[in-house]
Amino acid sequence: MVDELMEVVSVADYGALAEVYEWLISDARLTPAEFVATFDDVIEPLPTAAAVLDCACGTGQLAVGLAGLGMQVVATDASEAMVRRTGELAREFGASLRTVRAAWDELPGHFDDASFDMVFCVGNSLHHAEGASGRLAALKSMSRLLRRGGQLVLTSRTWELVRAGGSRLDIRDRLVHRNGRDAVVIYRWEIAPRWEQEHHIEIAVAEVGKDRSVLVHSERLSSWPYRYDELASELQSVGLGVERSTFNPEVEGYLVVATRE
Ligand SMILES: C[S@@+](CC[C@H](N)C(=O)[O-])C[C@H]1O[C@@H](n2cnc3c(N)ncnc32)[C@H](O)[C@@H]1O
Repeated sequence: MVDELMEVVSVADYGALAEVYEWLISDARLTPAEFVATFDDVIEPLPTAAAVLDCACGTGQLAVGLAGLGMQVVATDASEAMVRRTGELAREFGASLRTVRAAWDELPGHFDDASFDMVFCVGNSLHHAEGASGRLAALKSMSRLLRRGGQLVLTSRTWELVRAGGSRLDIRDRLVHRNGRDAVVIYRWEIAPRWEQEHHIEIAVAEVGKDRSVLVHSERLSSWPYRYDELASELQSVGLGVERSTFNPEVEGYLVVATRE
């Protein structure tokens, strides 16, 4: 165990994790081109200059990848730090996109109804919406911004599986190497007794220095998990018909594509 130096950086709302977020992205999706390629089949029918919104843009790999394909991209996120990182990535890749700091319920205050062909809410983001009412408000905002026939693309953990695993510590079994630095990635799941209660996930990225020092960036995030069936009926209730779903209760994550009716 490395114990020479332990410094803990902890801020809420992805403020701490934004700085080390690439350690949480899988090797296969690190670059904008790789990230957007995972959605090739979903974006295939879009015109080149389609108007797209990534409403939980994180560090911007998807938004920058979409802009690289010639789309008119807006990237939003509730976290100031994430929006800043998306802007930095866009500059690094010479991509043209607009960034706005906005939580999901604030989106209609920034954009006209029906102004996007596609809205992305990917990478296990929606569980941060506060309970069923917060989730419904978020989905309502996303639906309003889509033109008729436009599509919401959502990816999610299979929360049925996460809850079945109970509260636990999940320490990844390999060091993750990013930007010339190694880190251990740790998830601590706090599973509440009932679905509708607030859950927590503490995520730690523990950077191991060449001098055996350890610098821990950690954050305890609030989470309100949902069953797939609930999500499907919530989508329907805000005018989004599920067109495609890869949900399988035995598999860790799924994709849903829902069309604005
Ligand atoms: C797990 S990260 C996913 C980021 C990115 N989509 C990806 O796949 O790498 C979740 C993101 O959701 C954002 N988020 C959380 N609550 C939000 C809200 N109410 N409105 C908008 N974004 C939110 C966080 O700031 C964070 O960037």
